[in-house]
Amino acid sequence: MEKKKYYITTPIYYPSANFHIGHCYTTVIADAIARFKKLEGYDVFFLTGSDEHGLKIQKKAEEAGVTPKEYVDKIIDDAKDLWKSLDINYDKFIRTTDDYHKETVQKIFKKLYDQGDIYKGEYKGLYCTPCESFWTESQLVDGKCPDCGRDVNMVSEEAYFFRLSKYQDRLVEYIESHPEFIEPVSRKNEMINNFIKPGLEDLCVSRTTFNWGIPVTFDSKHIVYVWIDALSNYISALGYLGRDDSLFKKYWPADLHIVGKEIVRFHTIIWPCILMALDLPLPKQIFGHGWLVINGGKISKSLGNYRDPREYIKEYGVDAIRYYLLREVPFGSDGTFSEDLLITRYNTDLANTVGNLVNRTLSMLNKYFEGVVVNSNVETEFDKDLISLVEGTKAKVQSYMDKLEIPEALDSIFDIFRRCNKYIDETAPWALAKEDNKDRLKNVLYNLLESIRVGAILLEPFLINTSKEILRQLNTKKTGYDTIDKFGTLEEGIKINDFKPIFMRIEKKNEQE
Ligand code: ME8
Ligand code: MG
Repeated sequence: MEKKKYYITTPIYYPSANFHIGHCYTTVIADAIARFKKLEGYDVFFLTGSDEHGLKIQKKAEEAGVTPKEYVDKIIDDAKDLWKSLDINYDKFIRTTDDYHKETVQKIFKKLYDQGDIYKGEYKGLYCTPCESFWTESQLVDGKCPDCGRDVNMVSEEAYFFRLSKYQDRLVEYIESHPEFIEPVSRKNEMINNFIKPGLEDLCVSRTTFNWGIPVTFDSKHIVYVWIDALSNYISALGYLGRDDSLFKKYWPADLHIVGKEIVRFHTIIWPCILMALDLPLPKQIFGHGWLVINGGKISKSLGNYRDPREYIKEYGVDAIRYYLLREVPFGSDGTFSEDLLITRYNTDLANTVGNLVNRTLSMLNKYFEGVVVNSNVETEFDKDLISLVEGTKAKVQSYMDKLEIPEALDSIFDIFRRCNKYIDETAPWALAKEDNKDRLKNVLYNLLESIRVGAILLEPFLINTSKEILRQLNTKKTGYDTIDKFGTLEEGIKINDFKPIFMRIEKKNEQE
């Protein structure tokens, strides 16, 4: 049977400074979803990349005394290293300075011009340089950019325009007849009421005031507006209008564009209208997530209020960072990043709930049965409840993941580990050993080990290393996603591997003092 395809993207990042934990948030979430879909048997394509053109980057390069390309090359090498250290398993990394991308953008621009959807006019408007965004007077907040709060400038230039207004009615109709198109629903209402309903004006899609961008082929003093350039990455990466468009044929439309809330506007207004003009199907869903904040403020390259995420990875391990990003913040809302909360999560969930459980269970198996997995038919009255919870978890995780309720999905896996800890209290294996009730003890330890195996397999998309390490310690060959539908698959007679606690408790810095 042919696999169902799943195409997921992150935004492409501005390499105007090194990346921070907020960028890791988007990317780790996309990675976990992509891995989960792969586990479920989908043929997944996971795209990320970098958005390298624009005045902001041109200026940064000038300040640094290098060419824009030299400037971004360094940051992108570093970003790829960061993604590697976070176990990000993307299928493709697109750079908007790649030749195939530039060619596709030029072809799109020309096609839209030839068919009359792009025309030449004059632009007058308020522009925020750091955000690369035009604003109308009424959108400004206290006369400043509503996104970053900085000054905007009045700009006037000859320019090309895209007929956004022409697509307004079709866009509203589409959004209203596809309730899943913009999530969460609050962002959908915001788009319709604040941006679309008041009326879409034609969009200025070329610039002449700087040159770090993709030239318009038929009028080379113009470069393509950076958002047209950037949004096109989602199809240029697949070979749209290129020499080989087999990936495009296979994967488009995207199943999910994950984006931060401040760029939902571009993805749910400009992007669908461009696609309509190109006569292409629209992405199935755009999910606008919230921001990670530090001390109540947005983490920001320009504010410089952040540490290199690799410092946290070094200190706490990659799985601890992934766990925090995936578990702490309800997906869609803003949330806090703090080392204090990170350590709390680490200690309660990773060290106590999982780490301690695995270590206790394996230690008992070593002590009572020389590390060999054994079972018996002598049940305890607590088995049923444990087993039904474990057997039901896969379906629960699937259903949460379908709704992109990622913290809930992860937490339902942790319910297995929490239930196991309770099961240990209920069955008191040490007492069974004391009474020499070996048959009952075999049954209890088997149930624990099997539950741990199921939990570890489900953890794979989220905490890759923890999952692998637990399965290594168990020494089981039953590690496939299809081995957890029925309880009792763990092999009897296998001997566990050497083991040590997977997570050691961390003392809080202020507690040490
Ligand atoms: O917007 N918390 O790039 P970008 C959560 N190039 N997410 C955050 C964050 C934070 N503190 N800070 C940034 C761009 N992000 C464009 C995209 S797509 C065709 C072009 C997220 O580098 C942000 O919300 O400014 C966005 O989704 C992503 O990082 C890239 O931001
Ligand atoms: Mg941004």
